[in-house]
Amino acid sequence: MLYKKPFSIRVKIVRVKKMTDCQGDREGTDSPMELYERLNLQGDNVRALKTAKADKADLDAAVQLLLKLKVDYKQMTGQDYKAGCPPSENTAVPNNGPAADCADGEDSVDPWNVSTTNAKGVDYDKLIVRFGSSKVEKELVDRIEKVSGQKPHRFLRRGIFFSHRDMNQVLDAYEKHKSFYLYTGRGPSSEAMHVGHLIPFIFTKWLQDVFDIPLVIQLTDDEKYLWKDLTVEECHRFAVENAKDIIACGFDVNKTFIFSDLDYMGASPDFYRNVVKIQKHVTFNQVKGIFGFTDSDCIGKISFPAIQAAPSFSNSFPQIFGGRKDIQCLIPCAIDQDPYFRMTRDVAPRIGYPKPALLHSTFFPALQGAQTKMSASDANSSIFLTDTPKQIKNKINKHAFSGGKDTVEEHRKHGGNADVDVSFMYLTFFLEDDEQLEKIRQDYTSGALLTGELKKILIETLQPMISQHQERRKQVTDETIKQFMTPRPLNFNN
Ligand code: TYM
Repeated sequence: MLYKKPFSIRVKIVRVKKMTDCQGDREGTDSPMELYERLNLQGDNVRALKTAKADKADLDAAVQLLLKLKVDYKQMTGQDYKAGCPPSENTAVPNNGPAADCADGEDSVDPWNVSTTNAKGVDYDKLIVRFGSSKVEKELVDRIEKVSGQKPHRFLRRGIFFSHRDMNQVLDAYEKHKSFYLYTGRGPSSEAMHVGHLIPFIFTKWLQDVFDIPLVIQLTDDEKYLWKDLTVEECHRFAVENAKDIIACGFDVNKTFIFSDLDYMGASPDFYRNVVKIQKHVTFNQVKGIFGFTDSDCIGKISFPAIQAAPSFSNSFPQIFGGRKDIQCLIPCAIDQDPYFRMTRDVAPRIGYPKPALLHSTFFPALQGAQTKMSASDANSSIFLTDTPKQIKNKINKHAFSGGKDTVEEHRKHGGNADVDVSFMYLTFFLEDDEQLEKIRQDYTSGALLTGELKKILIETLQPMISQHQERRKQVTDETIKQFMTPRPLNFNN
């Protein structure tokens, strides 16, 4: 017994050393995140020594080291170390994902949950600060217009794609005739996608058209198998069904590769090599910090982020990029996916690859209000791409949260609040004409336009849009899907 206690402690210390080794020898060059990791590990060590009732001298030494690391951390980040609250990227750190409570305690944004108490929706300016990304300012929109030679998409004009990482770097390179590629994705959790899912795809199609660049689309059927109560076969089938909706957005088959992880992981040695490289450079503590995984999560979840990260590197697709690893990637997505890419950007330089750039969108709100995003798991919150015109009309009339007043008289007198009105918010996403949108806002705010009339405009905007989508989807044959999903060269001039 006397012999056993120190032995178990020694095993623990050796294991800690090995984890550091696997990241390479970076003694004295810790980033805030690495220091945070070391603090987590040292905290574990101190606890283990206490539990094992270790020698006082050993315990004192471990506590001293813990205190020293805390001082170093404070010096480096200006913040006190707090377990469970990783440093934010604006203190040069990538990993601050689910630690929403650490920053402002209001909005919660991660890949699985979006919620706020504010009826206007998530405070995106605060999110930019917390996530350490950059705001899409007017200058950037103007620059995209100048470089692409096209009027900016309404999502850019209206601040729907509101945040970015390294977009100026992408444009600098593009101006010097150094091209880039696009990467986006979908987690196929059900047969039907909702209107919110269209946002990144509509915008990605526009980027593909104006920059004339290749695109890879990852269908994470593996992710959905790991997270949901679904079989592998169901997830794979949903991937193919969702691919039809994605293709119906109008992507160019000569420039687009869509892949299911369940198929491509096994078929592409280069892709898998990148997954393994990423896995080697991210610790369990890091993914716990970023994604909130616990010891009870299955190991598939813990290693999955590496699979979502791998398409950010061009040599994961040798059939497209001929083994080149230096082609910059740009990822359009809603900001809920950012935790994956903070992790990716942290790993990239350590494995010799460029960091992917990002363009983040706001969330298309749930029908019940902008306190949460439209979500496939709540049917009443969503308008699905399979909904009939009648269903669309009923859902909007019955569920769309209104910023109008209780009676017509009051509304005429005081006007409605467009800032919290879901129908108005939806129109900002889909009504193309800026002047018409502004007129609707003014009329609603003054009381000239009633809630029922506003909802009618939305219904008449969404019904044809979704019917046309359904028509295009019907045209997608098995042969078309096969073409998009076959690994092959794409048209690429750089
Ligand atoms: P998923 O299937 O949850 O969402 C697919 C894409 O839609 C965005 N999104 C939304 N955008 C606006 N409003 C909403 N209410 C809304 N809900 C979802 C998501 O941000 C995403 O861009 N793990 C991913 C799949 C994935 C991926 C990627 C996504 C793999 N690689 C690269 C983006 C980029 C997922 O489950 O997405």
